Amino acid sequence: MTSILQGKSILRTDTLTDEELDVILATADRFEKALKAGRRLDNMAGQVMAAMFFEPSTRTRLSFEAAMHRLGGDVITIADPKTSSAAKGESMADAVRVIEGYADVIVMRHPRKGSAKEAADAVAVPVINGGDGAGQHPTQALLDTFTIKKEQGTLDGLTVSLAGDLKNGRTVHSLVYLLARFDTRLVFVSPSQLRMPAHITDDLQAKGVEITETEDLSKAMQESDVVYMTRIQKERFEDPEEYERLKGAYVLDVAMVEQAKSDITIMHPLPRVNEIKTDVDGYAGAAYFRQAHNGVPVRMALLALVTGRE
Ligand code: CP
Repeated sequence: MTSILQGKSILRTDTLTDEELDVILATADRFEKALKAGRRLDNMAGQVMAAMFFEPSTRTRLSFEAAMHRLGGDVITIADPKTSSAAKGESMADAVRVIEGYADVIVMRHPRKGSAKEAADAVAVPVINGGDGAGQHPTQALLDTFTIKKEQGTLDGLTVSLAGDLKNGRTVHSLVYLLARFDTRLVFVSPSQLRMPAHITDDLQAKGVEITETEDLSKAMQESDVVYMTRIQKERFEDPEEYERLKGAYVLDVAMVEQAKSDITIMHPLPRVNEIKTDVDGYAGAAYFRQAHNGVPVRMALLALVTGRE
């Protein structure tokens, strides 16, 4: 049977259909159960994934590589652009046209917004966007959605606060489009300089999503089922002094958790710098390390689905 995602690139979340989202979450659930049962999987045997990372990454690259290994496939990697021919001035389009002859699926991270689509337009193999500048990070949003469903038991009827650098944070740009499909109330918590881009807020409101914008994290947490902290994205700031002024805008601590709902789920795509104090880590609802681990079954699902191997 052909997968509804076979041959498709995963570039952003707003173009995924509800049916595709359901299939990804259900397939990830199935792979997670297989991993927990210690089953040996060979869905991707004979297949090669090329990981092209032109920006630093720990979780995205390694969980994609782990996912491919767990499915019995092979991996080739550009982990440092200085060691690839990008350093000699090769265009990204030329590079992916070469790499499609080496691999069955390409996972790419690049500092330029729109770069993943540019790559996908140049090749016939599926391209998975592992983060394109301040654009989108769809696979992170999918694992975030998977995590919320597991932690809260539902995706419906939740109030989700997203806090920090909503202007530059590509994870939240992708996540809100998935949450918008459910009966979710969104609270955007940021300094005025780092608000969610207006085109996204307008887009969501046009879909009927209830959105509140505030600078008060403590108050937002008191009414939230989920709080999603983000790092102030130092690498996206043109003015280093502005980064210094804003970097400590939100630091979630135990006192704030104690004022929140008793079953609040605390998330962060990681890496954290100082957005969540380490003494919050022991709280049962602190889900950020479980969230990172969920990257493996979700990325297994994506790899298998786009190559028709689920
Ligand atoms: N969350 C995330 O994208 O982490 P990395 O930058 O380490 O891949």
